Amino acid sequence: MRRNRRDDWSRRLVSEHRLSVDDLIWPVFVVEGNGVRQEVASMPGVSRVSIDLLVDEARRAADLGIPAIAVFPSVEPSLKTPDAAEAVNPNNLVCRAVRAVKKAVPNLGIICDVALDPYNSDGHDGLVIDNYVVNDATVEILCRQSIIQAEAGCDVIAPSDMMDGRIKAIRQALDSAGLEPVRILSYAAKYASAFYGPFRDAVGSKSALKGGDKKTYQMDPANTDEALREVALDLAEGADMIMVKPGLPYLDIVRRVKESFAVPTLAYQVSGEYAMMKAAALNGWLDWDKAVLESLMAFKRAGCDAILTYTAPEAARLLSR
Ligand code: PBG
Repeated sequence: MRRNRRDDWSRRLVSEHRLSVDDLIWPVFVVEGNGVRQEVASMPGVSRVSIDLLVDEARRAADLGIPAIAVFPSVEPSLKTPDAAEAVNPNNLVCRAVRAVKKAVPNLGIICDVALDPYNSDGHDGLVIDNYVVNDATVEILCRQSIIQAEAGCDVIAPSDMMDGRIKAIRQALDSAGLEPVRILSYAAKYASAFYGPFRDAVGSKSALKGGDKKTYQMDPANTDEALREVALDLAEGADMIMVKPGLPYLDIVRRVKESFAVPTLAYQVSGEYAMMKAAALNGWLDWDKAVLESLMAFKRAGCDAILTYTAPEAARLLSR
């Protein structure tokens, strides 16, 4: 076995998987203001930026060859209400950000989450009525949220809410609004995970959630077959791409999804995964550059077509060397 491993040229020749900048999606956080950059405490190296700086970062991403960014708003606490009304305001932060980026960098793909957590004073992805996240009333708002984001110029709508039946409803809503080219990337297998903690800091949904969890709609980490049922439903309802989330701890799910359905399969290397690697690197306990590339290669090996990762710009730079 060691003969092929002996030289760099033969290692390159027999390598089975390739990681390329074409596989990367960069999640970014946007805040109100001008010239604002706030580092996310639990994600060193990741910042929330105002729209003017986001446009610069989007340009940087496109120059690096990154195909798409995913834009997440950090909404002012005063705009968070129990009916999450700001989610359907066509002039909300995320819509203004999308319009600005699309205008400045038209060839960069823009992905937007569809879920109510940035806007909901409960911190939940759906409407809370009598202490329960209700399904169908949430889906109605998600359809409106999808339309305003798509009209702002978002190319890919990514429902991350885990309500039942939302893909079908959103597809119909987009089509009736004349938005047929807009793609749907479904967070199909999204688990109720502890690894989202730093993200909730970044968008300010953690304090709103008040220690609660999302177990009545996100999946139980103990389950695998259920992920396949979720993916089958979302595909039947019209999803163009499927996402598994979190990433590294869930690569078995990626593999089963890819083998069962052979559809575009993405995974999200989430905030907690980033934070773990970054904390170890800052302590000098692991080599950041090598760990980033190895972790992303693991996604490819498991069967991912693309990866959402906060390391995207750094990974792109490392890959171009
Ligand atoms: C919200 C959403 C979450 C993430 C993406 N969209 C958090 C959650 O479900 O609480 C997590 C991303 C990350 O941790 O990097 N619907």
